[in-house]
Amino acid sequence: MVELQTDMPRVAVFISGGGSNLQALIDAVKAGILRAEIALVVSSRRTAGGLQRAEREEIDNIVFKSKQYESDELAGAFLLEQLHKRSIDYIALAGFMSLLPLVVVKEYTGRIINVHPALLPKYGGKGMFGHYVHEAVLKAGDKQSGVTVHLVDEIYDNGRILEQVTVPVESEDTAETLAARILKQEHRFYPRVLQKLINGEYK
Ligand code: GRF
Repeated sequence: MVELQTDMPRVAVFISGGGSNLQALIDAVKAGILRAEIALVVSSRRTAGGLQRAEREEIDNIVFKSKQYESDELAGAFLLEQLHKRSIDYIALAGFMSLLPLVVVKEYTGRIINVHPALLPKYGGKGMFGHYVHEAVLKAGDKQSGVTVHLVDEIYDNGRILEQVTVPVESEDTAETLAARILKQEHRFYPRVLQKLINGEYK
């Protein structure tokens, strides 16, 4: 049973897939690297592997598909209600594949972050996710790629860059090997940047 830590900032993690970054955030809380409570997991897919992680860790979780709503406003109203109900302070996107409703972005401005597996502003934007990112890096012949953590606004991968870490591209890399090297860094890096945001270090 996870102990309720009511004095901690409350974080909602948004996922669409395997949720390895969600797991890294959970592990960072357990290790005392991230002083927060992961109070909610929101998944855009019912079958996302990350939902099983949430269940296993006894973290409250919901499925939220923005396309099921007639308008962005209605989707936003539902989501805000869910976030308010759990007194969520911060939102961490971790492989979430949709845009957040505008009202959510507005209310949580400066308190929503995303992790992207490349050095933004290169290789970002709509359609630049998963293997597409790494294939583009390899095709361009870049000698390095990396991880970007940025604030989220209403445009994909567009908000203020908070931190970046570089990762070397090896000559024999495939999209898979490069993705794996970068993902390892994401897991180490993302919880630490979230903690710095909570600390107020990015004013
Ligand atoms: C990560 O590479 C992240 O940078 C990107 O989506 C991927 C999510 O992976 N935004 P996981 O679901 O956390 O394993």
